[in-house]
Amino acid sequence: MFNSLEDKFSVQSKGLLYPDVYLPGQVGWECPSNIALIKYWGKKQFQQPLNPSVSMTLQRSKTVISVEYFYQRKVKKMSLSYFFEEKQQPTFEDRYRQYLEHVSKYLPFLNHTELVIKSHNTFPHSAGIASSASSFGALALVLCDMERNLFGTLSEDSDLMEKASFLARLGSGSACRSVYGGFSLWGRTEDLMSSTNEAAISLNFIIHPVFSDYCDSILIIDSGKKEVSSSAGHRLMEHHPYAAARVTQAFDNLKKILVSLQYGKEQAFSALVEEEALTLHAMMLTSQPGYILLKPNSLEVIDRIRQFRSTMGMPVSFTLDAGANVHLIYPARLISDVKPFIEGQLAGFCQKGKVIHDRIGTGPVKFL
Ligand code: PMV
Repeated sequence: MFNSLEDKFSVQSKGLLYPDVYLPGQVGWECPSNIALIKYWGKKQFQQPLNPSVSMTLQRSKTVISVEYFYQRKVKKMSLSYFFEEKQQPTFEDRYRQYLEHVSKYLPFLNHTELVIKSHNTFPHSAGIASSASSFGALALVLCDMERNLFGTLSEDSDLMEKASFLARLGSGSACRSVYGGFSLWGRTEDLMSSTNEAAISLNFIIHPVFSDYCDSILIIDSGKKEVSSSAGHRLMEHHPYAAARVTQAFDNLKKILVSLQYGKEQAFSALVEEEALTLHAMMLTSQPGYILLKPNSLEVIDRIRQFRSTMGMPVSFTLDAGANVHLIYPARLISDVKPFIEGQLAGFCQKGKVIHDRIGTGPVKFL
């Protein structure tokens, strides 16, 4: 019936019947971060990916958002107060105000609402974990829940998740994948009928049980602010000399990882995950101008992980975000081998020995 989610949510939002009463309310969601296995790098149009990506949603690294809202039809403007870790944060507040103004096209009731948003992360700011995925995921979920409360729409959880994923993407591309637990895919691929560039879908219906308890131990090599932001990195893909080859490779790797995930091929999975991580950084190195986010200790840790894998013959791999930290990916059944390896051989290369042990999680939770 609709050509796109953009059409669907624009049209549906126009048909809402506005209650002519004062409606205060509260909603709260926590949403985890995610780590990409097939990387999203480079955009087209507005917040659409050059290639599809696949990620694993984490369990412990989350953003927790609660919103107090006061809806009144006769009030014709949105107002926002934003608190991060109990303090009013003007920089974040401006970013979120701009975002809310943008998404009010799909949530027009926002233009009649006063919002007080309180947010915190379960991981320290200095952990070097990108919080935009978990925070835009959580924010999109609370906004959809407000729509559900005010209008009775989005009553099916699948509808709420679809719209939340669509809205989260408009804040930060990778955030759309955090709306689902387990493994998610974002981006159109002919391999999956329901895939789209406008929102993520859950991949859990194809996942082999061997991947159900994968761990991600995040080795904090550097917790400082990145020298080049992800947004700037995405932009550098626009005139990148190797962009076309990268996109072809990503589509190819996507096909392969879907087969690995479906048939429980852990060795093939590990090889793909590492290839994707190195390619992401190769794109940064060869951008114009090129830049380096890896640190000497990232390379040392990577080297040791590769040695450990070849000596032990275990499906232990690394992946990287747009930063220096190394994510060690392995199945929970190997914890008794991997923990001593981390403590004995890797933690010494981390900032203050910091390692965050996370693992695959079941996705966002509504708490209010
Ligand atoms: O969602 P953004 O715009 O912060 O970009 C995220 C890009 C990577 O983390 C490097 C890869 C990914 O797919 O998450």
